[in-house]
Amino acid sequence: MTSRDTDLQSPEKRTLTLSGHVGFDSLPDQLVSKSVSLGFCFNILCVGETGIGKSTLMNTLFNTTFEYEEASHYQNIVYLRPRTYDLQESNVDLKLTIVDTVGFGDQVNKEESYKPIVDYIDCQFEYFLQEELKIKRSLHNYLDTRIHVCLYFISPTGHSLRSLDLVTMKKLDSKVNIIPLIAKADTISKCELNKFKIKIMSELVSNGVQVYQFPTDDEAVTEINSSMNAHLPLAVVGSSEEVKVGNKQVRARQYPWGVVQVENENHCDFVKLREMLIRVNMEDLREQTHSRHYELYRRCKLEEMGFKDSDTDSQPFSLQDVYVAKRREFLAELQRSEEDMRQMFVTKVKETEAELKERERELHERFEQLKRIHQEEKQSLEQKRRELEEEMNSFSRRKVAAETLQANTLQTSITHTIKKDKDKRNIFSLSSALSFATEGNVN
Ligand code: GTP
Ligand code: MG
Repeated sequence: MTSRDTDLQSPEKRTLTLSGHVGFDSLPDQLVSKSVSLGFCFNILCVGETGIGKSTLMNTLFNTTFEYEEASHYQNIVYLRPRTYDLQESNVDLKLTIVDTVGFGDQVNKEESYKPIVDYIDCQFEYFLQEELKIKRSLHNYLDTRIHVCLYFISPTGHSLRSLDLVTMKKLDSKVNIIPLIAKADTISKCELNKFKIKIMSELVSNGVQVYQFPTDDEAVTEINSSMNAHLPLAVVGSSEEVKVGNKQVRARQYPWGVVQVENENHCDFVKLREMLIRVNMEDLREQTHSRHYELYRRCKLEEMGFKDSDTDSQPFSLQDVYVAKRREFLAELQRSEEDMRQMFVTKVKETEAELKERERELHERFEQLKRIHQEEKQSLEQKRRELEEEMNSFSRRKVAAETLQANTLQTSITHTIKKDKDKRNIFSLSSALSFATEGNVN
């Protein structure tokens, strides 16, 4: 660092007294007026199982009825549903976004239930970071969707925290301000509630889960905030009904045995929550989101991208150097992957060529084999044909011989028969002559 840099960073300071009113004491008012004219935004994430009372509590907190649909218990996955509302109180505009975790706790396997929530939070940080990194930024009218607070609804079981709650809170605690709430606190007795609160806090501490602590560094709120920290987790009751108590209409839940008044501090911690969340610490929650959670995300992301505050020689970080180094790295990587691709392509071509050659050789062999078989079959057929012809010739010869023999035999037999007949006839005529001669002699 040069001596000029040092001079610029720590100019000589002197305290002077003004001899009259100048007017910069109106700066806080100017800030207020500017902020009021821009309006505010506040984003709440409600994490809790289906039907635990998230929407009812939001309606009760903001004293209105937000549109909402009941979630089904049959979601395959958890998904986040953000809804934004423009609210006005006195002359202050508030853009309120309520993000609901739909289907949380409904799956048989809840191992990955926290993931969509973490991804959603990171995604909003990423949008903001991208806006910050733009050359032409418009942060003054940027719709900030980063989650300022996570109201974590715990079932009023009176037992201990479920592992799903512990895992989810552990995954979220470095990304968002978590305020743990015991939902439907009217369903648990006062004594059990106190024990449950102690148990939850001890479980959170022993598992290293960091929940949001109401800040105690600002004198104006130190007292109230430190006393409220002792009440965590806040036990809340929500209701959309109004019941007449005395001569006043109040938000309450009416039961056959009595009325639970939402705003009665003896009945539940709803008022404490509203006080802490909206009336006292809303700005701190916004501030913590930006300076702690977003800052952590931004730092990790920029480090991942290769940015750092000082180089290896502890010299101040130079964006230009990092850019050049990154560009060189990127080009080298590109060249490497191009070379890899080329190598891969050549190898693939060689492999395919070898494969084709092998196939061709196999086909040729097969062809030769078939040709050989064909030749052998042809030869054997030829042989058979010759044998048959031979057989036919010998058969014809035998036939002719047989016929000749037969004809000769017939001739001989005919001749023989004729001779026999002749002999017979001769004998007959001889005997006739003899008998005639004999008869003549007798007479
Ligand atoms: P999904 O959005 O469907 O997940 O439900 P949710 O968490 O928004 O719950 P919702 O506010 O719709 O309430 C569900 C039921 O619980 C309704 O019948 C409410 O009247 C009831 N309920 C809400 N808050 C309380 C509460 O503090 N105590 C009791 N006893 N019941 C409540
Ligand atoms: Mg709801």
